[in-house]
Amino acid sequence: MQNIRNKKILSGIQPSGVLHIGNYFGAIRQHIALQKENECLYFVANYHALTSISDRKKLHEHSLMVAMDYLALGFDPEKARLFLQSDVPEVTELAWILSTVTPMGLLERAHSYKDKIARGLSPTHGLFAYPVLMAADILIYDSEYVPVGKDQKQHLEITRDIAEKFNLAYGQTLVVPEELILPEVAVVPGTDGQKMSKSYGNTIDIFADYKALKSKVMNIVTDSTPLEAPKDPDTSTVFDLYKLFAAPGEIEEMRRKYLAGGYGYGHAKKELLEKIWIYFEPHRKLREELENNRDYVKDVLRQGASTAREKARQVLERVRDRVGLLNIG
Ligand code: ADP
Ligand code: TRP
Repeated sequence: MQNIRNKKILSGIQPSGVLHIGNYFGAIRQHIALQKENECLYFVANYHALTSISDRKKLHEHSLMVAMDYLALGFDPEKARLFLQSDVPEVTELAWILSTVTPMGLLERAHSYKDKIARGLSPTHGLFAYPVLMAADILIYDSEYVPVGKDQKQHLEITRDIAEKFNLAYGQTLVVPEELILPEVAVVPGTDGQKMSKSYGNTIDIFADYKALKSKVMNIVTDSTPLEAPKDPDTSTVFDLYKLFAAPGEIEEMRRKYLAGGYGYGHAKKELLEKIWIYFEPHRKLREELENNRDYVKDVLRQGASTAREKARQVLERVRDRVGLLNIG
C-alpha cells in the first residue's frame, strides 16, 4: 500500500448482495488499512443499489449486512466514519447540478453501463447516470483519494472529468480526486473465471458458512486437463484465488505441484478452501455477535451520517453559490 497520510479518503460499496472476497481484496482491506492515518468516510451505496435491486426487504437487509461485515473485518468507528448514502440526500442535489456539465458522450462510453446491460439489467436512466451520482458522492466531501478495485477505474476518470468541467465553467470549486487502486490485486476472478461480482452470481462470500463455502470453491470452473497431466497455474482461477490467501512459499509450492502433474484441481480446491476458511476465522465470531446487536450497528451508521452530512452541506453550499442558485426560501 502506498504511504498515504493525513488525507481525505472516501469510498462506497453497494449493498446489492452479500460481500465477497473480490470486495475484500479489491477494496475493503485497503479501506481498513487507511483508517489509521487518514480521515476516512465509507458509505453503503444504497441509492446506487436501486439500479439493480427492487426488493425493499433485501435492500434493508443487505445495507445492514454491509455495515456488519465492515465492522467485523476491522472497521473502527472511533477512527473512521461509516454511513448510508441515503442519509446524506444532499448528494442527489449535487448529482443533478453535475449532470448539467456532464457530456453525454462521457456516459455513453462507460464500460460498466454496457456490461450491466449485456448482463440483463434494465437500461434505465439511473443506470446510465450512475457515474454522475458516483462523482457527486466523491466530490461532495472534497475527497482527495478514492480506494477502489480496478473495475472502478473508468468511473474515477469520469469523476475527474466532471470535476474539471465544473471548475472550468464556474472557477476552482471542486477538489479533483485521485484513484487508489492496488496493482497487485487487479480484478479478483469469480467461480466462473469472470470478474467476481454480486450481480453475476459467481461470488465466494466472506462470511459464508463452511458448507456453502465448500460448495462454492468445489464448483470453481476449471478446464478438463486430467489429474496426471501438468497444468498451467497462470491460467487457473483456483491458483489465482489461492495467491490472495497463501504465503509466498506456499504459492511456489502449489505452482510446483501444478507444473509437475499428478495433482488435480480437486486437490488445489481443497487447499484453497482451507485457506479461505482460516483467513476469515478471527472475524467470524464478531460478525455473529453483530448480527444480534443491530442497534449498535445502527448507532455507528447514525454517527457516521451526522459527520458526513455536515461536511456535505458545506460543499453543496459552495456549489450552489457558485452556480447562482439563490437561497431565499
Ligand atoms: P460488486 O461488483 O460485487 O457489486 P461493488 O460494485 O459494490 O461490487 O464493489 C465494491 C468495491 O469492491 C469496489 O471498490 C470494487 O472495485 C471492488 N470490487 C468488486 N468486485 C471486485 C473484484 N472482482 N475484484 C476486485 N475488486 C472488486
Ligand atoms: N460504483 C462503486 C462500485 O460499484 C460503488 C460506489 C458508489 C463508489 N459511489 C462511490 C465507490 C464513490 C467509490 C466512491 O463499486
